[in-house]
Amino acid sequence: MHLPVFQLINYILILIVLIFFIRLMWDVFFDNTYQPAEWKYALKQGKIPKILKKMEQHFPDKVRFFNWWFQVDRLRREKIPGDFAEVGVYQGESAKILHHLDSDRIFHLFDTFSGFPSKDLVGETGAAATYTSKNFADTSVHKVLDYIRGNDNIKVYPGYFPDTSNPIVDSRFALVNLDVDLYLPTKAALDFFYPRLSPGGVILIHDYNHQWQGVINAVNALMEKIPESLVLIPDQDGTVMIIRDK
Ligand SMILES: C[S@@+](CC[C@H](N)C(=O)[O-])C[C@H]1O[C@@H](n2cnc3c(N)ncnc32)[C@H](O)[C@@H]1O
Repeated sequence: MHLPVFQLINYILILIVLIFFIRLMWDVFFDNTYQPAEWKYALKQGKIPKILKKMEQHFPDKVRFFNWWFQVDRLRREKIPGDFAEVGVYQGESAKILHHLDSDRIFHLFDTFSGFPSKDLVGETGAAATYTSKNFADTSVHKVLDYIRGNDNIKVYPGYFPDTSNPIVDSRFALVNLDVDLYLPTKAALDFFYPRLSPGGVILIHDYNHQWQGVINAVNALMEKIPESLVLIPDQDGTVMIIRDK
């Protein structure tokens, strides 16, 4: 018996949809998604706010998410003083998570909110060499604040970092999230925030992998001058952390 081609294609498509559906149901009913035991326990105890639960479900890099959660929890437990800051906000995805992990902390957000400054792109290699000033330009302060749905602890500084850092020169920091992809802003942010990091405080740098040589160079240059070790996180894009010695 010969099936007409279109019927065969139909059967294949139905089979593919069925496989996806079974996989989804398997995950839903048998909890086949990655969640650390501590998170499951906190969920059972009702300690995770609804908004965080939702963000965890939708955030694709589970290791990155739970690393933030562990770090913020540690800062709270160890009573590490200081504000939170992020350089490289774009549309606010990581900023929203960090704010809702501890909304009592003052949180300083730095971005041009209009894409990469052209002067920072000069001399970049690897993935960054394909960037133009149009990348990450589809955002605005208004959109980000709307998306985060946070409180008055969020302070936003639109413009070129480090030129925008003046209002926080006298602040101290417990957590700094750097996600700017390029050498110059990564170096500027490390030079600015490391001396202002509280003992026990943490700087997290995203994209420390072979595609982002500028980030690697900026981090390695700082590591040569400081006593701390670089902690590598096995998340999707290679976050590294510097925890300031106590
Ligand atoms: C990869 S995106 C950040 C992604 C974001 N953390 C998220 O969760 O979606 C990089 C951002 O760094 C910003 N950026 C890069 N260099 C900058 C500089 N010198 N000053 C301000 N912002 C900069 C870009 O505008 C862009 O929005």
